[in-house]
Amino acid sequence: MVCILGLQVCRDPRWGRCYESYSEDPKIVQTMTEIIPGLQGDIPANYPMNFPYINNDRIKVAGCAKHFVGDGGTINGIDENNTIIDWNGLKNIHMPAYHDSVRKGVATIMVSYSSWNGKKMHSNYDLITGYLKNKLKFKGFVISDSEAIDRITSPPHANYTYSVQASILAGIDMVIVPFKFVEFIDDLTLLLKKNVIPMSRIDDAVERILRVKFMLGHFENPMADRSLASQLGSQEHRELAREAVRKSLVLLKNGKTGDEPLLPLPKKAQKILVAGTHANDIGNQCGGWTIEWNGQSGNITVGTTILTAIKNTVDPSAEVTYNENPNKEFLNSNDFSYAIVIVGELPYSESVGDSKDLKIAEPGYSTITNVCESVKCVVIVISGRPVIIEPYLEKMDALVAAWLPGTEGQGVADVLYGVYGFTGKLARTWMRTVEQLPMNVGDAHYDPLFPFGYGLTTTPRELIAAQ
Ligand SMILES: *[C@@H]1O[C@H](CO)[C@@H](O)[C@H](O)[C@H]1NC(C)=O
Ligand SMILES: *[C@@H]1O[C@H](CO)[C@@H](O)[C@H](O)[C@H]1NC(C)=O
Repeated sequence: MVCILGLQVCRDPRWGRCYESYSEDPKIVQTMTEIIPGLQGDIPANYPMNFPYINNDRIKVAGCAKHFVGDGGTINGIDENNTIIDWNGLKNIHMPAYHDSVRKGVATIMVSYSSWNGKKMHSNYDLITGYLKNKLKFKGFVISDSEAIDRITSPPHANYTYSVQASILAGIDMVIVPFKFVEFIDDLTLLLKKNVIPMSRIDDAVERILRVKFMLGHFENPMADRSLASQLGSQEHRELAREAVRKSLVLLKNGKTGDEPLLPLPKKAQKILVAGTHANDIGNQCGGWTIEWNGQSGNITVGTTILTAIKNTVDPSAEVTYNENPNKEFLNSNDFSYAIVIVGELPYSESVGDSKDLKIAEPGYSTITNVCESVKCVVIVISGRPVIIEPYLEKMDALVAAWLPGTEGQGVADVLYGVYGFTGKLARTWMRTVEQLPMNVGDAHYDPLFPFGYGLTTTPRELIAAQ
């Protein structure tokens, strides 16, 4: 099963899972559902509506749309918290990706830890059974999040019998119980014996689960197909990842007022300074969900750091100096042609990433200040979401949002040096201050540092030369 995180509409970047969702615009989130036929295969004509469809000979996996529903709209962006919004808001902002997923035959849907207007989604009969199963006629299975039914009560697991009762009656078909599964089986069995849960509810769940398992061919081939495992991390895949990096970078500033644009940078230069906590750190440029749950700084996997990529790209005559956090004395005693400052957030995932201030890691802001006050500089921000840039923007000659480029740092250098042009646009509003949040495109009071959809472009050097 492959879980599709990008269906979450992030409404507040303080939310630590914000980088797991693609956009604040539900129309763009809807395009993410194209991953479903990509995983499961294209639905043939005349296939019954809203039934799961899995027939992709190459990979044969079940897609899982998550997290149903409204998890990106929680108050103050607190993970697993409460989304306060009326039905129309829920339907128009958070639901479109699910409408689309069901239409495209998604096999499973995972429920969100969060609540809607104070009611835990894992016990919400109206949305799981009433809306998803009865109204949308979803015929795949609904799965819980891990230990999520425990959290129906506060504190978690305070009344597990109640958690089992409320979640199964709400319409959850498969429950993730990582540890106390004997207790789960005992409680569920007892609730059936006492007729608190009718057998028809179990029949519904079993029918849905078997439907997906038959389509996956689990009974014919119960073991995983490892025939493509040798291709993981192949050069071909790395090239594709590098292309994705090139296309996802967003150029936010290029030249101070009245100045020439700084980018693309010249490959020929005497001395180039590279600085910042994220310039030579694979773990930092990958972020969370890499090797470890929360990722980790350092050389945690094979890849090209941005520093290495810069060295690979510049003219052999150019001298590249790396200093993570240079002081004024160092800066004044060298005659740098320009500087590239690469700073950002440290790796995180889920609630570990919840942030009240959205600041980058120390000493990021002082590195920006010191370098940009002395040398012409481009700042590259590595982050899963918009972070606080003010009041440092005016010091920078250029600013690039590189998000989490992953292992293929060469994609960053490709665009910095104009082998390719900048084309990326902001999929989220970039706030000035955290006090403005939540602030999304379409809001009455919309005063961002950079609006949704913003992004400057540059022309590849080859095309400049040809003009
Ligand atoms: C736990 O929940 C059940 C309902 O499933 C209820 O009958 C029981 O009284 C609850 N127990 C406690 C200690 O609250
Ligand atoms: C990671 O690898 C690079 C390149 O080999 C090296 O320059 C750097 O010092 C290493 N970093 C750590 C934290 O080991």
